Amino acid sequence: MNATEPSAAGSPSTAAASVADSVAASRTAATANAITAAAKGPALLQLQDIRKSYNLGLPNQAEVLHGVSLALAGGEFVALIGPSGSGKSTLLNLIGLLEKPSAGCYRIQGQETTGLDDTALTQLRARTLGFVFQFHHLLPAFTALENVTLPSLMREGQVSAQQLQRAREVLAAVGLEEAMDKKPSELSGGMQQRVAIARALVLRPPLVLADEPTGNLDTASSDEVFALMRRMHAELGTSFLIVTHDTRLAQRCDRVVELVDGQLLRDEVLKKG
Ligand SMILES: Nc1ncnc2c1ncn2[C@@H]1O[C@H](COP(=O)(O)OP(=O)(O)OP(=O)(O)O)[C@@H](O)[C@H]1O
Ligand SMILES: [Mg+2]
Repeated sequence: MNATEPSAAGSPSTAAASVADSVAASRTAATANAITAAAKGPALLQLQDIRKSYNLGLPNQAEVLHGVSLALAGGEFVALIGPSGSGKSTLLNLIGLLEKPSAGCYRIQGQETTGLDDTALTQLRARTLGFVFQFHHLLPAFTALENVTLPSLMREGQVSAQQLQRAREVLAAVGLEEAMDKKPSELSGGMQQRVAIARALVLRPPLVLADEPTGNLDTASSDEVFALMRRMHAELGTSFLIVTHDTRLAQRCDRVVELVDGQLLRDEVLKKG
């Protein structure tokens, strides 16, 4: 619609005011939902007024997150949506302790993370977080089973018989009992992503962060991978925070959080837990 055309809401300035009102209302809703999530159970994570700038002190310095506050309770299944460049991956990487915020507070299971050194961050990450990315990042020379044992190897420096057994169980749980000894190149895209989900779950983290886990898959494989994450959430109680451009899948999550231009503009609970 042309800005000078009369709109249902009246003059352009009235329309602008109503947009501002709805943004303000959704921000209030976002805060209310964050509080609700925190009240639902012990907060799994709490971000308070998080800011992130890249290239600090350089002429091309840019702030990409402008004060994001968000709380997730244990056992949530949340979609993080928003336009390309709005800061979704940046926010997920901050939550995943892969990047540090420029300002603000971030607590995981009540522990403030912003002052921790790299060793403490690595330990906290290994204890609390699993990751699934758009491109599975499986090691091509290793079998599915070996890929799933990698988190144990990295955490402990070895893979115990118990951890090997656990890796087999998780692979069976994601429907890959027959494919454990296959290399990633011998598996379909959907199967590769199922291995990546098994790898994310093998150490039983309370939260899995997934950045466009179905972005590289056809519709049928996307549905299959999404259904698997829902099932793992139901069976294990693992929380999921999933970045997706697929509005169809986002609508099937329990809560949708929307970032626009580095700000949280919507936080909507679709299904009460
Ligand atoms: N390492 C970096 N250095 C400088 N700028 C960065 C860096 N990483 C991201 N940005 C900028 O931050 C903004 C947010 O990027 P981000 O990747 O978080 O967006 P996104 O919402 O995940 O986008 P998409 O949907 O395309 O994946 C973009 O303007 C991007 O160019
Ligand atoms: Mg991204």
